[in-house]
Amino acid sequence: MKKKALILGIETSCDETAVAVLEESTETVPNLLSNIVSSQEEIHKKFGGIVPELAARSHIDKIDLIVKRALKKSGRKLKDIDAIAVTGGPGLIVCLSVGLNFAKALAMTLKKPLIVVNHLEGHALSPKLITDLRYPYLLLLISGGHSQYLAVKNLGKYKRLGTTIDDALGEAFDKTAKLLGIKFPGGPFIEKFAARGNKDRFDLPKPIINKGGCNLSFAGLKTAVLKISKSIKNNQDKNDLAASFQKTIEEILVKKTKIAFDQFKKISQTKNNFFVIAGGVAANNKIRNKLEKVSFEENFIPIFPPLNLCGDNAAMIAMVGLEKFKLKQFSKLDAPANPRWQLDKKAVFLKGAGVKL
Ligand code: KG4
Ligand code: ZN
Repeated sequence: MKKKALILGIETSCDETAVAVLEESTETVPNLLSNIVSSQEEIHKKFGGIVPELAARSHIDKIDLIVKRALKKSGRKLKDIDAIAVTGGPGLIVCLSVGLNFAKALAMTLKKPLIVVNHLEGHALSPKLITDLRYPYLLLLISGGHSQYLAVKNLGKYKRLGTTIDDALGEAFDKTAKLLGIKFPGGPFIEKFAARGNKDRFDLPKPIINKGGCNLSFAGLKTAVLKISKSIKNNQDKNDLAASFQKTIEEILVKKTKIAFDQFKKISQTKNNFFVIAGGVAANNKIRNKLEKVSFEENFIPIFPPLNLCGDNAAMIAMVGLEKFKLKQFSKLDAPANPRWQLDKKAVFLKGAGVKL
């Protein structure tokens, strides 16, 4: 019997040191043997954001240990590994370099292929760890650094339909949380505060809601939150602002998702319209519910990765690694880190004031 491919995945693009072991399977989904995520939340909390040098230093301190733990949990030995998949970008260069150099050294020592993976492709393929998802599908990627609608045509083949022209959605959640006095990363807490608030109390703007196709913008919203936050006096005010923010985001995403649905249908000839929502913000329950509802209304089948695979992890990197391994898409040992690696190479850079939509 042919040996089932065993992939070691490594992720260090930002503030999680993560390692996973994934085994090929004859079943519909591969076998995730271990998936260790070591967060640096405690290190960065007091700075109100990620400090790249501290993040890189922590990756250096921990990577060896996390690899050992992931292997131990998987019950496999290093010599059984068939390829090393590692995040090459996008992300913080000092952080990416730690994982990449470690993976290169390992690949060289074991004489096994190195597979450099795009972090965003990891998020894009994360549902394949739990379901038999076929190409093409529509992807909404909402994380701390990215907010994009993409048509996923095949492995490595992406067409960007829309992107944020300023802040990423996770960033907007974190900044709003900070203004409400919630410690970094505050995104997940907004939802909790919002549940106790009056969502109709504050009327917040929805930037570019009626223009720019399915492009997104959150900067104006943040400015409005900043102004209101100055007049906040008590917990009820805080909850009401969180609830109004959460509601506004839901409305923006529902409207823009409908536009993305239309654009996706025009370019893809598929009977089954799958809609994958991935990235850290996809853990937001109310956003999940709203996007699920609009999907069914518009004949799309919504797919969410389970909550533990929404945030950064190495299982998703190993998943892409496995698909590339099957196609023998290996990387050279001198492959550089690529901090601004885009999924759609033809997509134009859309950011900042003066952007024409
Ligand atoms: O994908 P991710 O773990 O890292 C990046 O690649 O950016 O996403 C992290 C982001 C953070 O901004 C965090 O505040 C946000 O996802 N996030 C949430 C929730 N859980 C995580 N935002 C809103 N609601 C949540 N429940
Ligand atoms: Zn991510």
